[in-house]
Amino acid sequence: MRIVFIGPPGSGKGTQCTRLAKHWSIPHLSTGNMLRETIENSSAEKCAFGTLVSSYINTGRLAPDYLVMPIITKRLAEPDCAAGCLFDGFPRTVIQAQQLDEYLQSLDQRLNLVLSLEVAPEELIRRILLRANTENRADDTPETIAARLQVFDQQTTLVLDYYHGHGIVKRIDGMKSPDEVFSQIIALPL
Ligand code: AP5
Ligand code: MG
Repeated sequence: MRIVFIGPPGSGKGTQCTRLAKHWSIPHLSTGNMLRETIENSSAEKCAFGTLVSSYINTGRLAPDYLVMPIITKRLAEPDCAAGCLFDGFPRTVIQAQQLDEYLQSLDQRLNLVLSLEVAPEELIRRILLRANTENRADDTPETIAARLQVFDQQTTLVLDYYHGHGIVKRIDGMKSPDEVFSQIIALPL
């Protein structure tokens, strides 16, 4: 089972994928987490690659496709992804979506579902600012949150259009509590 989670910053992608990965015993692949790990590892090695990646993340811009695709395809080649996985925050551009389709087709695999987590903008900002009190994410500042929301509207909604064309998108009411969102998802026919 392969499910893509698409939603703006703060819509609950990470929260739900963490829980569903345990529920379904499949890996949770978050490109945001992978890129943050790359930055951490690179800074330990004093490598310029991390500086390059953080220049995108810290300003709320998407990392270029040529940086993201090798990271995700390397992870997908690991044996634990053979039976499926949850994609959190990937793909975020139409190019990424097309390249993922090509990659999966080459393995005779496909996506089962794309879940669109829908949450009102004021609630997204409320959640992220609340999280900023306890977590230390460099991109959880008011200016960068605004940039991330704009990038979602301008670039990632095009990915939803792409998947609507494939007829695999289901809308999820992300305004409900985490438990209720989880229940909506596990009730879907897969
Ligand atoms: P990424 O790490 O994916 O961040 P994001 O998309 O901005 O989303 P968040 O992680 O902030 O929110 P979420 O939807 O996971 O919500 P969460 O569950 O945490 O990406 C970061 C950056 O990396 C990007 O801006 C880009 O630069 C780069 N990047 C990543 N992927 C890329 C790609 N494919 N291509 C190019 N660049 C890429 O919830 C948020 C908060 O709300 C939490 O505190 C949570 O406890 C709370 N919460 C969750 N659900 C609920 C609920 N139902 N009710 C109330 N509170 C809730
Ligand atoms: Mg997240």
